[in-house]
Amino acid sequence: MLPQSADDLDGILDAAWRLLAAGAAGDARAWNRPALATVRADGAPSVRTVVLRAVDAQARCLRLHTDSRSAKVAELGAEPRSALHVYDAGAAIQLRLDGAVSVHRDGGLVDGAWAASRLSSRICYRVEPGPGTPIPAPEHGHPPAGGDPDAGRGRFAVLLFAVTRLEWLYLGADGHRRAAFDWPQGRLSRQWLVP
Ligand SMILES: Cc1cc2nc3c(=O)[nH]c(=O)nc-3n(C[C@H](O)[C@H](O)[C@H](O)COP(=O)(O)O)c2cc1C
Repeated sequence: MLPQSADDLDGILDAAWRLLAAGAAGDARAWNRPALATVRADGAPSVRTVVLRAVDAQARCLRLHTDSRSAKVAELGAEPRSALHVYDAGAAIQLRLDGAVSVHRDGGLVDGAWAASRLSSRICYRVEPGPGTPIPAPEHGHPPAGGDPDAGRGRFAVLLFAVTRLEWLYLGADGHRRAAFDWPQGRLSRQWLVP
């Protein structure tokens, strides 16, 4: 069904931020689990699912969490430009976001995010060696049981995805619609596109 305010570019943008915020709040599964794309050292793309942790529509910023030893962190260090994708099959809406990601390992933001993380999430950061390392058997990839739940804090990183472009696509029997939103020099520019 055609989403509410699908005739109005401002309404579409507001709704997109609301959906992302609902995803970060954990109450909309597709919007909670976007795919983050980065660029490998050889120029090839790399994409993976991440959990959307927080959204600041005013600042056009999304927050993600990761292990600082993971490949994506090295990739973002070399090329901060990245993309995020969400498809909500129920709403028949796809969002494609372009942005630049900054990696944060220290400071109040990171400490606060760590403190607010579930114990089950914190424990994952205790795994040795780091994510993506080849291992002889799957059990070698489990974090050690017991011990200090905060032992992985030094590997925890917050990724801040600063949105530079947002593209909205609705595919419906009542007609496809596509719109793009950019912020050149910080000012919103919006337009309809052929779907
Ligand atoms: C449902 C789901 C949620 C995930 N959430 C995260 C996440 O929030 N952060 C993260 O770093 N990896 C997350 N992952 C794992 C990543 O998809 C990926 O496998 C991992 O981060 C290693 O990626 P990299 O080697 O490209 O850095 C999630 C995977 C799934 C299936």
